[in-house]
Amino acid sequence: MYCNMSTPERPILDDEITKDKRFKDRVVIVTGGASGIGRATVERFANDGASVAIFDIDDVIGPMVAEDLTKSGHKVTFLKVDVANKSECLEGVVKVAEANGWAVHHLVNNAAYFDWKGLDAEREDWHNTMTVNVEGYANLVQACYPYMKTGKDCTIVNVSGNSAHRAEPNRWTYSASKGAIVSMTKCMALDLGQDGIRVNCVSSASVWSPAVSSVVFGDRAESQATIGQVHILQRVAMPSEVAAAITFLSSRDASFFTGADIPVDGGHSAMSPEGFGIPKDDYLLNDKKKSPVKEKSLEDELREAATDPDA
Ligand SMILES: NC(=O)c1ccc[n+]([C@@H]2O[C@H](COP(=O)([O-])OP(=O)(O)OC[C@H]3O[C@@H](n4cnc5c(N)ncnc54)[C@H](O)[C@@H]3O)[C@@H](O)[C@H]2O)c1
Repeated sequence: MYCNMSTPERPILDDEITKDKRFKDRVVIVTGGASGIGRATVERFANDGASVAIFDIDDVIGPMVAEDLTKSGHKVTFLKVDVANKSECLEGVVKVAEANGWAVHHLVNNAAYFDWKGLDAEREDWHNTMTVNVEGYANLVQACYPYMKTGKDCTIVNVSGNSAHRAEPNRWTYSASKGAIVSMTKCMALDLGQDGIRVNCVSSASVWSPAVSSVVFGDRAESQATIGQVHILQRVAMPSEVAAAITFLSSRDASFFTGADIPVDGGHSAMSPEGFGIPKDDYLLNDKKKSPVKEKSLEDELREAATDPDA
């Protein structure tokens, strides 16, 4: 019944306009850059001229991503860093800064611990989620700050999600961590704004990354027909579409954005619980069935007036 909205394979932004330009000579760190949104963000920054470091615990896929992009002429390195480990974060950032003239300009905090727990949450579940999704983000900001405060046009983008804003079943731990990212972003923006560092956040809905594709066993059409239907655009996002928002917030085009939480959600948060609701024609039909409205003729009105004692 509704139009079939296809999913673009490539970023919406025009590669030819931005390629090798807007992040030329900029140094970027992307956590969780080996997969999904993080990987698309690495590709986008690299495409636009940046020198990018992937910080990830996946030391199989991570180095392969860096190698592939380097072979195609981009500047991408991999460092095995667990964001929950503060000393690994500090050491990793120092290595990146040292290799790039003691500069770090942009940080994207994206790595996440996905283990949804609710009534069944144990202390360990809270610990695992919060140390990666909240403390991990703070660790990287603390490690990058000394380089960013002396740099120019430096930015931080924290990746949250629609779970920060909407109730979802059995997701106390994950959703609480995503909500914390939104509030922490505002505090970071306030504290770092005086050094000219902008801090923003993106909240996406469903994105075609391994986490989502595994739910529908890799069947993209199934994802559009099921998960896609809770988005106005009736599909899940491609990672590159979230990456486009992240790189925009990191660019000088977003020079007056700070402390913001941008929904990149295909209209998920704009929809009411009715979703697409009942088609308009059905509403009209039902109204007519329930209370048929009779149009009065002039004769009827005159007759009523004549018999009404109060008239
Ligand atoms: N996919 C979605 O539908 C969706 C929706 C809303 C928000 N998000 C958010 O987007 C971000 C990326 O999600 P994704 O779906 O692309 O995930 P993904 O699973 O594809 O990638 C996550 C990456 O993070 C890495 N990682 C995990 N723990 C780490 C740690 N302790 N240190 C360093 N690296 C670590 C993983 O190895 C992996 O490479 C997350 O913050 C997630 O909460 C995703």
